[in-house]
Amino acid sequence: MSNRIKVIVSGALGRMGSEAIRTFIEHKDEFELVAGTVRDTSNIDPKLLKNYEEMGVHITDDLTGLVQAAKADVLVELTTPDSVFENSLLALKNGVRPVIGATGLSEEDLKELSLLAKKNQIGAIVAPNFALGAILMMRFAVEASKYYKKAEIIELHHDKKVDMPSGTAIKTAHMMGKSTNKDIPIHSVRLPGLVAKQQVIFGSTGETLTIEHNSIDRSCFMPGITLSARKVVEINQLIYGLENII
Ligand SMILES: NC(=O)c1ccc[n+]([C@@H]2O[C@H](COP(=O)([O-])OP(=O)(O)OC[C@H]3O[C@@H](n4cnc5c(N)ncnc54)[C@H](OP(=O)(O)O)[C@@H]3O)[C@@H](O)[C@H]2O)c1
Repeated sequence: MSNRIKVIVSGALGRMGSEAIRTFIEHKDEFELVAGTVRDTSNIDPKLLKNYEEMGVHITDDLTGLVQAAKADVLVELTTPDSVFENSLLALKNGVRPVIGATGLSEEDLKELSLLAKKNQIGAIVAPNFALGAILMMRFAVEASKYYKKAEIIELHHDKKVDMPSGTAIKTAHMMGKSTNKDIPIHSVRLPGLVAKQQVIFGSTGETLTIEHNSIDRSCFMPGITLSARKVVEINQLIYGLENII
């Protein structure tokens, strides 16, 4: 048990964060859940905080204190676009390896995090999508784009998603564009009832081809999160994309 990977989940009470907390508790033979962090504990229902403490999960808003005390190996970053860069930078500066699932990092942010990881010789993983099927969808879309003149992406998500277009759609368009020099339009749909879905539609003379990935439940992201938390302690640079570690 002493060799367990020590993990902090940032954004612990969000939709992804709470699922990640459950997952790390389930995998307690491999991972020690040091704490879950929230933006401000005074805004959280004390009953909810008590429930977590009774489950043995410490919830705090002091991420700085946690990382400065070097209490963790890995920070699983599942917050919001306004927090993701600052939290990831804080982790890297203090020798805690970030596994970044939250969207909102700009090209400049990525560059800065990558340089810092290299300078400090520690790992970082940025995964716009932790679902295996989404990675395969991107791979197949790149392959198909070599054979079709035109393609468009439709990404459909729940109506609470704050960013638009999704990080996965941007990445898919980027990968397809890189291999073919095409500009791929992205359309976004936000509706209650959806989790995450993406279609890449190709059109040619008299035919269309659609590649679709559907996240029915957030549990589909968890194997990618645990895989990344295992991998990030073995590397000493920033890796972008789950496809580069599977
Ligand atoms: N990579 C993937 O596979 C994948 C899959 C799904 C979602 N995502 C991304 O993951 C992120 C979270 O998604 P979600 O659906 O869980 O969103 P969510 O339900 O809105 O959860 C985000 C949580 O982060 C909290 N938060 C914001 N700033 C914080 C800070 N500085 N410290 C601690 N907590 C903070 C928010 O609290 P407040 O309410 O106080 O702001 C909220 O509870 C989003 O960026 C989403 O796009 C990634």
